[in-house]
Amino acid sequence: MARKIIIDTDPGQDDAAAILLALAAPDDLEVLAITAVAGNVPLSLTTVNSLKMVELAGRPEVPVYAGCDRPMVRPLITAEYVHGKTGLDGADLPDPVTSLAPGHAVDRIIELVMSHEPGSITLCPLGPLTNIGTALAKAPEIAPRLAEIVLMGGGFFEGGNTTPAAEFNIYVDPQAADLVFRCGAPLTVMPLDVTHRALMLPRHLDRFAQMGTRLGTAVHGMLAFYERYDVEKYGMEGGPLHDPCVIAYLLRPDLFGGRQVNVAVEVESELTMGMTVVDWWGMTSRPRNARWMGSIDADGFFDLLVDRLSRL
Ligand code: BDR
Ligand code: CA
Repeated sequence: MARKIIIDTDPGQDDAAAILLALAAPDDLEVLAITAVAGNVPLSLTTVNSLKMVELAGRPEVPVYAGCDRPMVRPLITAEYVHGKTGLDGADLPDPVTSLAPGHAVDRIIELVMSHEPGSITLCPLGPLTNIGTALAKAPEIAPRLAEIVLMGGGFFEGGNTTPAAEFNIYVDPQAADLVFRCGAPLTVMPLDVTHRALMLPRHLDRFAQMGTRLGTAVHGMLAFYERYDVEKYGMEGGPLHDPCVIAYLLRPDLFGGRQVNVAVEVESELTMGMTVVDWWGMTSRPRNARWMGSIDADGFFDLLVDRLSRL
């Protein structure tokens, strides 16, 4: 039976690739909802970009909900410097004809979790954790009903990509991230420690162009645009494909390796705001609240992505 998931997202080209990967695997994943949040670009664009992805995948029946338009406490920070003005720069896609589903994403997350069997829904946050944190604050009873939360965020051995200490998704809404890491649900984290090893090399990117489909062309265009930032900024060989790691983990957990550890989020110090403090070496007696991933079979990951997207 397909695993039921909710994708919480701020597309962003790498979010877009993650959404497509999930929609390309209907035998394994049942996408109950896509819930948009402000992050890479404002909510008005992350909603539209989510709709563009369900349409590109030929799955317009998958409902997209608008969520929070700003973090729980701090002002919104966006990342057009990475993703371009639209969040999906590089993909030449028409405006969506599908409308947003009625209601607020936070309420829908709560309703879905409470109305399904306990342990049957996995949350997949790919952006700032505002929607999930707000849902947990409003209805803490959802936490013990979750099968798992598998999220992209944080960094420890790699440091940060937004400040020296903090990764973007956690930095944008550290208060929400703190709620998530303390909620008690099983948690698996794809941090920069993993995603900086999922680099799109020219040979990977070429495979999207070679698909010869409208989707392949759009994915190639947007990922080629997206990777230029990290290549220039960090001198990497290719751009890290962060968010698809979450979905790839659901499909092929054997591609990843990690450790069950304690993770705490810094919410006070301005210097290290949003830092994910990982007790990798077991220095404390703090409870192990997350599986922190640290390794990836990058070729296996790209094979999976190309194989699945070529089926759409
Ligand atoms: C994360 O931030 C965003 O720019 C990406 O979509 C990803 O979710 C990486 O730090
Ligand atoms: Ca994202």
